[in-house]
Amino acid sequence: MKKIIVIPGDGIGQEITKSAVEVLKKVDEKFNIGLEFETRDAGGTSYEKFGTPLTDEALDACKKADGVLFGAVGGKKWDSLPVHLRPEKAIFGLRKGLGLFANLRPTKVYPELINSSPLKPELVGGSDLLIVRELVGGIYFGKRCESEINAQGDEQAWDTEIYSVPEIERITKLAFETAKLRRGKVTSVDKANVLAASRLWRKVVVDVAKDFPEVELNHLYVDNAAMQLVLNPKQFDVIVTNNIFGDILSDEAAVIGGSIGLMPSASIGELTSLYEPIHGSAPDIAGKDIANPMGTILSAAMLLRYSLKEEAAAQTIEAAIDKTLADGWRTADIFTEGFKKIGTAQATEIICKNL
Ligand code: NAI
Ligand code: MG
Repeated sequence: MKKIIVIPGDGIGQEITKSAVEVLKKVDEKFNIGLEFETRDAGGTSYEKFGTPLTDEALDACKKADGVLFGAVGGKKWDSLPVHLRPEKAIFGLRKGLGLFANLRPTKVYPELINSSPLKPELVGGSDLLIVRELVGGIYFGKRCESEINAQGDEQAWDTEIYSVPEIERITKLAFETAKLRRGKVTSVDKANVLAASRLWRKVVVDVAKDFPEVELNHLYVDNAAMQLVLNPKQFDVIVTNNIFGDILSDEAAVIGGSIGLMPSASIGELTSLYEPIHGSAPDIAGKDIANPMGTILSAAMLLRYSLKEEAAAQTIEAAIDKTLADGWRTADIFTEGFKKIGTAQATEIICKNL
């Protein structure tokens, strides 16, 4: 049996994870993977029941699971709580507790949705890239000072960017392994012309690359990478980069595709890995059966691919989404005149039929 912990969370998280589980169950019937599901709470939903956004029991259940499927957390109702009780705390608790060291975000431009991209169709058509971001190191976790007085008597603040060789090796290996499952190209993004931590990054990436002769490697400075993403996104297959550069570039890459409702992600960990759509809990549309479940369903496909090594099953889900779009079915977020408008439940039903 393969145990999956499902954490719906708040807002539309409840609806979209339900859709993804339906799709996974249907896929399991075809591929006999032996999936078993258990649900846990997180975020505001957990706070209401247990007085904390993430219980130790929920975290422990995740640690023992073969994969975690996460919806989203957050809502106005809990915004005024003290920081340690806010829904977002659940995300950090899971990242830390599960050792989620890498975030994988694919950006795929669907031919049917090409006109929702802010970029010209001829530029983005056929783009299919994946950003591998280091998630637990670098400047977001380095030593910092919020305020001090310098020699000139002025107030100042500082942060530090630190990376060790094992940290860089771990994320780089993952990027190369991932590239082997795709088109076999890795672009490493750094700022080695200025930053010492980036120079070490580049050296380690070059060393790791020697173990992957079948994968092509190139390097870009982050400023150039930001530019290349909008000039010619088709040149990229896998991009590997540090925490802060990955944070920025993955948001830039996310808009190329045109709809956040369609974008999945994976956070790869030491103990288990967590899969979630990139969007939030969308309180404005929660409970109305209009949320797009595709980002979460595609996250479930990533769970099959990366945690369970069920590539054929993952591709079956991706193909079913392609077909649903190609047949003209659209949830409200991607609906334009001339297409067929559907809600969350109906979209799920159609995707299941298309498996
Ligand atoms: P959001 O991503 O929830 O929503 C932004 C806009 O996109 C809204 O208009 C929403 O209706 C729409 N949208 C999002 N997902 C959609 C979907 N699947 N189908 C159709 N439309 C969709 O971001 P926002 O509004 O900034 O945040 C709302 C709450 O979510 C906040 O409490 C925030 O902290 C939380 N959040 C949680 C995340 C997580 O759990 N990983 C990530 C981002 C935000
Ligand atoms: Mg960000």
